[in-house]
Amino acid sequence: MFKSEIYIQRRNRLKQQLSSSIGYSGIALFIGHDESPINFTDNCYPFRQDSSFLYFFGHNLPKLIGVVDIDEGIDYLFGNDAGMDELIWTGPQPTIKELGERVGISRTGSIKKFESFFQRACSYKRRIHFLPPYRKETVFKLLKWLRIVDISSELDILPSQKLLSESPLSSMKLQPSIELIKAVVAQREVKTDEEIAQIEEAVNISAEMHIEAMKVAKDGMTEQQLLSAVYKKMFDHGCISMAFTPIATTRGETLHNHFYGNTLKKGDLFLLDAGVENSMHYASDLSTTFPVDAKLTTIQKDIYQITLDAHKKAVSALAPEVPFKDVHFKASKAIVKGLKDIGLMKGNVDDAVALGAHALFFPCGTGHMMGLDVHDMEDLGEVYVGYDGEPKSTQFGLKSLRLAKPLKAGFVLTIEPGIYFIPALIDKWHSEKKFLHFINYKALEPYRKFGGIRNEEDYIITETGARLLGKSSLPYNLIDGNSAGN
Ligand code: GLY
Repeated sequence: MFKSEIYIQRRNRLKQQLSSSIGYSGIALFIGHDESPINFTDNCYPFRQDSSFLYFFGHNLPKLIGVVDIDEGIDYLFGNDAGMDELIWTGPQPTIKELGERVGISRTGSIKKFESFFQRACSYKRRIHFLPPYRKETVFKLLKWLRIVDISSELDILPSQKLLSESPLSSMKLQPSIELIKAVVAQREVKTDEEIAQIEEAVNISAEMHIEAMKVAKDGMTEQQLLSAVYKKMFDHGCISMAFTPIATTRGETLHNHFYGNTLKKGDLFLLDAGVENSMHYASDLSTTFPVDAKLTTIQKDIYQITLDAHKKAVSALAPEVPFKDVHFKASKAIVKGLKDIGLMKGNVDDAVALGAHALFFPCGTGHMMGLDVHDMEDLGEVYVGYDGEPKSTQFGLKSLRLAKPLKAGFVLTIEPGIYFIPALIDKWHSEKKFLHFINYKALEPYRKFGGIRNEEDYIITETGARLLGKSSLPYNLIDGNSAGN
C-alpha cells in the first residue's frame, strides 16, 4: 500500500471537488467487494477489490465500506473484525481499527454501525452519492440500505445492469451520482508520480513475458504451452495475476480470442495480448504479434509494416490537448494509405476514414485509458472516462473507440492500432456491396487465412508530448528480417 498520507490527500481532494461542484450536503459511499463464489460459497474467485475503493481506501480485503462525509470533512471505514471461525480458516487478520489507521482514518466501526450511520443520514435526508454498481450483490445492498425494496426472488434472477435499467425496479431511483462519477474520473485519470512508478513496474514485467514468448515460440507447440511460459515469467517477477484474460492465439483476427487449443505452425503469426496486475493492483496491457518461425512472409511483412506506420503516426500525435479521436483518425488514415499502396483499398483516404470503410480491417479503437483497471474506470461509464459526457459515435468501428476526449498530462493510455482479416465480416460487407469505392474485395482473397496483427504499447502523456512506459517489447527488428526472439 502507499503511505497513509496519499489516501488522506486523495479523499481530501475528493471532498474539495464535491463541495465545490455540489455545494450542499451529502455523503459519498464506496462499497468494497465481497468474496465472489465460483461454484459454491467457500470456493471463491481470487479476491480483487473495486478500483475506486482501492484508490481512496487502499485495502484489498473483502466486506469493507468507505464513507466520505462531504460536509463534515470526515472519513469512515466500516467492516467487521474477524471472529474465531475466520481466524481458524484464514489466519490472524488486522482489526478494522488497524485497517483504518493504515489509510489515515480514525473513525471506524462494524457493518452494523454503518447501517445505523446510513439510516441516520437517510432520515436527515442527506444526499447519498454512490458510483454505478456492477456486481449484483452491491445492487442488493444498495436496494436494501436505501429501503427501496425488500430482497425478493426477482432480484435473484436479474443481472445487475438489468436491475438498474430494464426491470420495474428502475423506477425506484437507484441512481448513481453523476457528480461523484465526474469527480472520481477527474482525479483518477491524471496519474501521480507514485502511480506512474507502479504502472511502469507492471509494464516492465509484461515486457519480459512478451520477450519470453517470442523466444520460446516454435512449430508444433500449442498456444496453451506458449501461454504457460508467459505465466511463468509473470510468477517469477512476483505477480500473481494477469490484469485481464490473456489473448494468446494464432487466430489474431478474433479481437478477444480466449481459446488456447491451436497448434503453432510454421508460417503462422502469433498474437499475444497480455498484461499483469502488480502488487499494488496497477495494470499493464501489451500486445505483440510475431511469426512462429522467426521470419515474416512477404505478405505478412507488408501488413506488419502498415501496422507499424499506423502505430508511429499515433504515437507522434500524442500531446496534451490533442483529442484522442484525432490520434485514432491519424492511425486509421495510415492504415488506409498502406492498404491502398498494396491494392486492398482504393479511393480518397480521408473520405474512407470519415465514412468508416477502414473498419473492415480495423473495427476497434487505437487505445484506451489504463491504471488500476486495464480499461481504466470503465465501470464509471465510457462516456465520462473517454468522452467528457459527449455522446459516442454509433458508426461501426468508431463506436468501439473507448477514448476520444482531449488528452491531459498524466493520462496513461494504450496505443494499439491493428489490421485484422475477418472472413465473416469480409463476406458480409461484400454481399452487401458495402464501400465498393474503397475496398478491392477481389484482392482480399489471398488474405482470408491471414489472421490479424496488433502491437500495443503503454504511454504517459507529458507536458510536451508522451513517453513510452517501461522497456520496449515490440519486435521492430522483424521488418529488417531478423527473428522476433533475437
Ligand atoms: N488488452 C485487452 C483489452 O484491452 O481488453
